[in-house]
Amino acid sequence: MSRRDGGGHRRPQGSGFEASAWFFMRVSGVVLLGLAVFHLFWMHFVIGVENIDFNAVAGRWEGRWGPLWRLYDLALLVFAMAHGFNGLRYVLEDYVQRPGRRLALKSIAYTLGFLLISAGAYIIFTFDSGGV
Ligand code: HEM
Ligand code: HEM
Repeated sequence: MSRRDGGGHRRPQGSGFEASAWFFMRVSGVVLLGLAVFHLFWMHFVIGVENIDFNAVAGRWEGRWGPLWRLYDLALLVFAMAHGFNGLRYVLEDYVQRPGRRLALKSIAYTLGFLLISAGAYIIFTFDSGGV
């Protein structure tokens, strides 16, 4: 499928994977607008970037609202990664014409995405400051 028709991604026909992916990009884009902007707002204006250190992260994740912050960070992680990597898939499909190269790059991207989501989720679920 080529999208060299003036940019933007037209809605694919039917209800298969590509149509779901198209819909997911729109929904996750709107969700990320809320999640990411709030994340940036909180980090910059509530905590303050100069105050972010190990203790600041531990205080959030182990404090009274810890489980909620972890859930929030998990949502941000999953949405940003799924959206970003599906976007990367679009880019590869648009620009990498040779089948072998396309398969190789997509394989690397999927593996990387899987590893990063796994590592991020592992940290979110298991983080323990050891009472520092
Ligand atoms: C601020 C919230 C965001 C909104 C509203 C948004 C919206 C969208 C939409 C609607 C598309 C689909 C465009 C198309 O199909 O033609 C898209 C594509 C994409 N998004 Fe996002 N997005 C947001 C955040 C992000 C973030 C945080 C990342 C990086 C992790 C990202 C990476 C991408 C990439 C790589 C594409 C594919 C670009 C392409 O096809 O040329 N976006 N975005
Ligand atoms: C300069 C801007 C940013 C700052 C200062 C910042 C700061 C932080 C900090 C301190 C954490 C640690 C966890 C916590 O305390 O909740 C964190 C986690 C996280 N941030 Fe950001 N962030 C920024 C931008 C972004 C953006 C643009 C995104 C994606 C759209 C993002 C996605 C995430 C995710 C997914 C996590 C959880 C990571 C994990 O799995 O442990 N951040 N951020």
